[in-house]
Amino acid sequence: MMKTYLSIIRNCKVAQRWSFSHATRCALSPSPSFSSKWNCKMLMVRRMGTDIPTEDRTYYITTPIFYVNAAPHIGHLYSAVTADYLHRYKLLQGFNSRFATGTDEHGLKIQQAADAAGQDPLSFCTKVSEGFKHLFESFHISYTDYIRTTEERHRCAVEHFWTVLQSKGFIYKGSYEGWYSTQDESFLTPSQVGDAKDSSGKEIKISLESGHKVEWMKEENYMFRLSEFRSRLQEWLEGNPRAVQPERFHHAVLQWLQEDLPDLSVSRQRSRLQWGIPVPGDLDQTIYVWLDALVNYLTVAGYPDTHSQWWSAAHHVVGKDILKFHAIYWPAFLLAADLPLPQTIHVHSHWTVGGKKMSKSLGNVVDPLERSQRFTTDGMRYFLLRQGVPDTDCNYDDDKVVKLLNAELTDSLGGLINRCTAPSLNPAQVYPHFCTDSFPSQRTKAHEGRAVDEDYHMLDAVHALPAVVEQHYESVHVYKALEAINGCVRQTNGFVQRHTPWKLDRGDGRDQLWLDTILHVSLECLRMYGTLLQPIVPEIADKLLSRLGVKPEERSWAALDFLVKYQGKDCPFEGRALGPDTGVLFNRLERPNAEKGKPKKAKKATKVKS
Ligand code: MSP
Repeated sequence: MMKTYLSIIRNCKVAQRWSFSHATRCALSPSPSFSSKWNCKMLMVRRMGTDIPTEDRTYYITTPIFYVNAAPHIGHLYSAVTADYLHRYKLLQGFNSRFATGTDEHGLKIQQAADAAGQDPLSFCTKVSEGFKHLFESFHISYTDYIRTTEERHRCAVEHFWTVLQSKGFIYKGSYEGWYSTQDESFLTPSQVGDAKDSSGKEIKISLESGHKVEWMKEENYMFRLSEFRSRLQEWLEGNPRAVQPERFHHAVLQWLQEDLPDLSVSRQRSRLQWGIPVPGDLDQTIYVWLDALVNYLTVAGYPDTHSQWWSAAHHVVGKDILKFHAIYWPAFLLAADLPLPQTIHVHSHWTVGGKKMSKSLGNVVDPLERSQRFTTDGMRYFLLRQGVPDTDCNYDDDKVVKLLNAELTDSLGGLINRCTAPSLNPAQVYPHFCTDSFPSQRTKAHEGRAVDEDYHMLDAVHALPAVVEQHYESVHVYKALEAINGCVRQTNGFVQRHTPWKLDRGDGRDQLWLDTILHVSLECLRMYGTLLQPIVPEIADKLLSRLGVKPEERSWAALDFLVKYQGKDCPFEGRALGPDTGVLFNRLERPNAEKGKPKKAKKATKVKS
């Protein structure tokens, strides 16, 4: 059943085609009724979102665990908000979802950072790890599990995992000679290394992929038989074309698998690396930090005792720089340990600043907490998810943040709720009644009501919106989902603007019914937008839905039943009191430079014209 469901989701385009052709059939029926067409579409939305047996509704999403050698920046936050929206979205759909994040605390890089700070490694790690926790809490990252690789439960899981690999013959004692990048904690083949000069003009070798310095190392250590897994990894990827998303990264992994795939060194001599988990039975060796780190996903799932329920539903969010570790090493380790492979690896690209990679030396690191003081945490979440594209790098720019948030949250969405709840238009402060005579659901009778063609198009677009958003949320094309929501918000604003409800004569019975209908339709649209936006901007969505009087238990995906009066059903919101007015939805932001020199005025969101 789960497989069937997933293939519906994965083949959403097919599902949509089905929906449209089915809807077309409905529309072509002798008496084309909009409500019957809607019922057909609703059927599809339901099937995609909610008709799955409870036992199959398990979802486990992870972020990479973050290195504690430096303070968090917007790139780290982006991995976290991506996983957070997926978790929140799955919860709305009624899934039993678990969401793990945490910190990666072992390895040479951390050992050196702690030394440089003159602190003992654990105190150093604890301090930075707390910093990440604080950042996530500030940004409402709703993780269910926070893991640190220095925890005892994790050491047990790693030791067990190692022992399994060794007992199955996949680990052997050998000797490694080659390039190593401490910054990336990665071994490189000669073709992955190039020449460069450091800041003092000295010739050095660097990783061609990351640009980080590499060093030649020669050590006795333990090797993992990675080379044996090439064809099984290829089969996995070819048989699961959606395992690594977006597609270009799936191709990239297949391409890597065509190249040299030597066995992997999975330990370092203890004399060089003390800060890590010792190899079971050989205290002279420390487990390679990537093997240690990757096992965190299993530790959280309850490995080695109780992991099967969660582990079979695992999905990873990772940045493109760590794809090789997640799409080659990790699946190979799992295959060797006879464990299921992750369902999906969602890959995202990077944030640059001024077109360059963020780095301390360039002084272009963007601190998310500092920015949240200016743009709010939801503002930053919205910007990152609205502007980030999984396939290509994105440039961060304060001015862009201000323009985008002012346009979409303050003016468009904020303006709409402001208009529809203004006491001048809605003195009773209720969800007004919908009048079928003013807005006939039978298109053939449209001429008897007040609605015009564009209004029917708007309703169609909003009605189709949950399926569109679902498709893009599933494929982590969040910007497309937000673009679609935004398009509908614009159409709803157009609807209100077109009918200028503030000009209607409240003394006239027909005008009053039409005014109520305009408000009812607009509030229904807003209810849809608020519900769909919950995973992206939880605070703003809560403010919006609370203002509409929508109760917490009425905010799930199953509640995305749009304008039921139009379908001839009773609307639970009709006549209900609106929630309290707690102020504008999103305050207008000042532009960083353009406003300089002008007298300072506290600007608020556009006020309703009424
Ligand atoms: N510790 C490893 C992950 C181990 S997971 C078993 C690691 N840590 S990291 O702190 O360097 O990166 C964590 C996440 O932040 C990765 O997904 C990485 O891609 C992401 N980002 C770091 N810099 C980034 C940008 N500039 N832009 C977007 N995300 C980037 O790798």
